[in-house]
Amino acid sequence: MTSAHQGLTGLLDTEAIRKDFPLLDRLVHDDKKIVYLDSAATSQKPRQVLDALNAYYERHNANVHRGVYTVAEEATALYEGARDKVAAFINAPSRDEVIFTKNASESLNLVANMLGWADEPYRVDHETEIVITEMEHHSNIVPWQLLAQRTGAKLKWFGLTDEGRLDLSDIDELITEKTKVVSFTLVSNLLGTVNPVEAIVRRAQEVGALVCVDASQAAPHMVLDVQALQADFVAFTGHKMCGPTGIGVLWGRQELLEDLPPFLGGGEMIETVSMHSSTYAPAPHKFEAGTPPIAQAVGLGAAVDYLSAIGMENIARHEHAITEYAVRRLLEVPDLRIIGPATAEDRGAAISFTLGDIHPHDVGQVLDEQGIAVRVGHHCARPVCLRYGIPATTRASFYLYSTPAEVDALVEGLEHVRNFFG
Ligand code: ALA
Repeated sequence: MTSAHQGLTGLLDTEAIRKDFPLLDRLVHDDKKIVYLDSAATSQKPRQVLDALNAYYERHNANVHRGVYTVAEEATALYEGARDKVAAFINAPSRDEVIFTKNASESLNLVANMLGWADEPYRVDHETEIVITEMEHHSNIVPWQLLAQRTGAKLKWFGLTDEGRLDLSDIDELITEKTKVVSFTLVSNLLGTVNPVEAIVRRAQEVGALVCVDASQAAPHMVLDVQALQADFVAFTGHKMCGPTGIGVLWGRQELLEDLPPFLGGGEMIETVSMHSSTYAPAPHKFEAGTPPIAQAVGLGAAVDYLSAIGMENIARHEHAITEYAVRRLLEVPDLRIIGPATAEDRGAAISFTLGDIHPHDVGQVLDEQGIAVRVGHHCARPVCLRYGIPATTRASFYLYSTPAEVDALVEGLEHVRNFFG
């Protein structure tokens, strides 16, 4: 702690937490301790998750829902146990509403495809409309574009204010009786903005539209309560919340999951199959064709345990303090422009910025030479860059293990960047 850190409240005991994350100890470029500021892309993994993955493969590896022998039953219990943990973590009314996918993109594609193949009243067709926003990750744009192209539905979107928030001024014209689904991110991966779910849900409910929330940048960082959100679908991914890659979640309201058709066909999603037709297993299995990501689900279960033991409120409080400090320090850097809200209020812990006319790839490279890992580019949210007239940004993103000293390292690193480029 330096004097600059005095007054920061709500911080977690990062000294203890960082001991759980082996990667945070490594050196890069021979002798530089890594300053990992790319948790919005993927989080680091605690030992507890790594141990759970190893234990699964060493002691319990078998396919699930198939074998009657001991190890297969253990594997099934671990896989289904992970579903219970995720259901509790997001306050799902039923464990059967939790579908395991491979990532958030697959979860969102699943929703778009279900609605495309659905019967009335859910079917998206040429007479209906889909509403998204200009701040979506490509994973919440492209599936809807594909659906619109396939069905002839019209795709509409909320624009953005100069500050990087959703422009809700035309909400009543955007969401109308024709709207079948409104899909938006809870927290922007590029801007960091936390969106006003309540206002959008209220309008969607008025016209009977379904609501799908991309919670990829929310689930790792705040209490995610699907009942409080009042959405119909919520998608997120495991690897950003201390879990392994290869595991995502789609939560959906039970009655919808009962009515909607499957997207992928294959083993374990059926009730009966003949050469002419098939009937399907109830949700969630109807939506989990083939051998699922078993070890990855077990790893996600361990991640949920890990985060829950620390407490999501405590994690959110820590990140708020770090974000507040980072915004303040970054604004002291000459020529730095934050793309997104330049405040810690109603924003997450991903902060994008430009630095004069230095290209973000150059910024990232000079930071890397100092051991500082940030993401540069359009962050799979290219329409946001187009909106603000920039090719790319540098993005620093923080998590439960991030420290004020790492913010200082970033600010110092940016001074080097400025000196380097004159
Ligand atoms: N969606 C991830 C990011 O924002 C990969 O970096």
